[in-house]
Amino acid sequence: MQTSLVTVSYLAAGVLFILSLGGLSNQSSARRGNAFGIIGMLLAVVATALTAFSQVTTQLQSVGMLAGAVAVGATIGAVVAARVAMTSMPELVAILHSFVGAAAVLVGIASYLSPDAQLTGVEVTIHEIEIFLGVLIGAVTFTGSIVAFGKLRGTIRSKPLLLPGRHLLNLGMLIGSAYLLSRFLAVPSPAATTELLILTGVACVLGIHLVMAIGGADMPVVVSMLNSYSGWAAAAAGFMLSNDLLIITGALVGSSGAILSYIMCKAMNRSIWNVIFGGFGADEGAAPAKPKEGGGEQREVVSVTGEATAELMREAKSVIIIPGYGMAVAQAQYPLYEIAKLLRERGATVRFAIHPVAGRLPGHMNVLLAEAKVPYDIVLEMDEINADFPTTDLALVIGANDIVNPSALDDTSSPIYGMPVLEVWKAKTSVVMKRSMASGYAGIENPLFFRDNTRMLFGDAKKQVDAILTALRDNK
Ligand code: TAP
Repeated sequence: MQTSLVTVSYLAAGVLFILSLGGLSNQSSARRGNAFGIIGMLLAVVATALTAFSQVTTQLQSVGMLAGAVAVGATIGAVVAARVAMTSMPELVAILHSFVGAAAVLVGIASYLSPDAQLTGVEVTIHEIEIFLGVLIGAVTFTGSIVAFGKLRGTIRSKPLLLPGRHLLNLGMLIGSAYLLSRFLAVPSPAATTELLILTGVACVLGIHLVMAIGGADMPVVVSMLNSYSGWAAAAAGFMLSNDLLIITGALVGSSGAILSYIMCKAMNRSIWNVIFGGFGADEGAAPAKPKEGGGEQREVVSVTGEATAELMREAKSVIIIPGYGMAVAQAQYPLYEIAKLLRERGATVRFAIHPVAGRLPGHMNVLLAEAKVPYDIVLEMDEINADFPTTDLALVIGANDIVNPSALDDTSSPIYGMPVLEVWKAKTSVVMKRSMASGYAGIENPLFFRDNTRMLFGDAKKQVDAILTALRDNK
């Protein structure tokens, strides 16, 4: 394939990726954004494959290997993506990042072992620094993503592993890497292969140690950070291979991952450094919510039935629905929108309130509501709707817990203190739909359940929403 044609194809693919990111920033244009991304990636893969084919026309075996690798990779990717449940998406993303990390390490080592003869003087040094950084970031991403995958899947304990002097250990590994870099640059390729392999080992241990020290509650932010690392690793591989598209794509992934991590940290009121090095999420699993000590008085919750909730809805002029992770698990979004339609037909104002970290990945709730065809104009972000709770008759919390926990605002000892939350308790009545008194992702009790104006509707969200819908339809 002609070089100019490759350049134009890469440029077009780069523009399509930027358009894709722009489209994904809004629900109404997300589908179009996705289509741009698919076309861009297709163009990139075809242009790269044709370039490779034109370079190896004399070796048919290599062409076959490349075509075979593309076919196997595409098939595995398609099958896995088609099968994955929305709730397991963070795990899939984590394991895919590990592939990017591994690829950057392999490209780095291969690039070192077969140096470009055209490079001279300072160019060689720059190229070797690119290799070194690519291998370092790639190896951290590789093992870090595998640990994140294990923690999200539950095969590795979500409790943080806090070794004594862990920060010193990390610092030691970084200083050791800097020493290896000086040795690596001092001798020509391939004399420092051992140093490069030692660096790979050290970076793999660093990746494991960094992510093992982070609690399960912070894992989605970690996955987003690893997404950013994988982008930088890809950009480093792009420099090694002199591939402009890989540099552009890597930089886009690297910076967007970093921005997303920052947004998520802000929504959880956590500093990014605290997430990367801290031990938040130390409470493992979902412990049952216990009433607080208070003058020996046992606090009680008031439970309601689906029929009684339907009655509250019929009386309400304004309703705000707050979906959370449990709605995703129960797949209750379809009947939920039927309820919203019925209430709107009766003249009530019905809106959905989305917390930035509701569910298990950014935009989780927006995707589910879009799936059920809920119109975008009644789906509002937390900042847009939080002030409206005091004038709302009914707040319906469905499978959400941490994101509606008042202790985030008034209990300084709470691990989620400072996290902005949806202030549902300010509504006239709130109904919380969940299966038990178990805690949410952060593993902490929720005083909302014990408030005077809170009603608990226990049971699977889908079954309860169906029950409310039936009751509403029966008594139109
Ligand atoms: P959670 O706090 O995890 O609460 C979900 C609740 O849903 C649980 O308490 C559970 O209670 C209930 N539930 C589960 N299955 C159910 C079912 N089939 N029917 C009815 N209820 C069900 O979720 P949330 O409020 O959405 O908050 C998200 C959490 O994830 C936050 O702690 C957030 O910090 C964390 N997180 C999210 C992200 C992103 S980007 N979304 C990133 C980092 C961290 P029962 O077991 O009693 O039913």
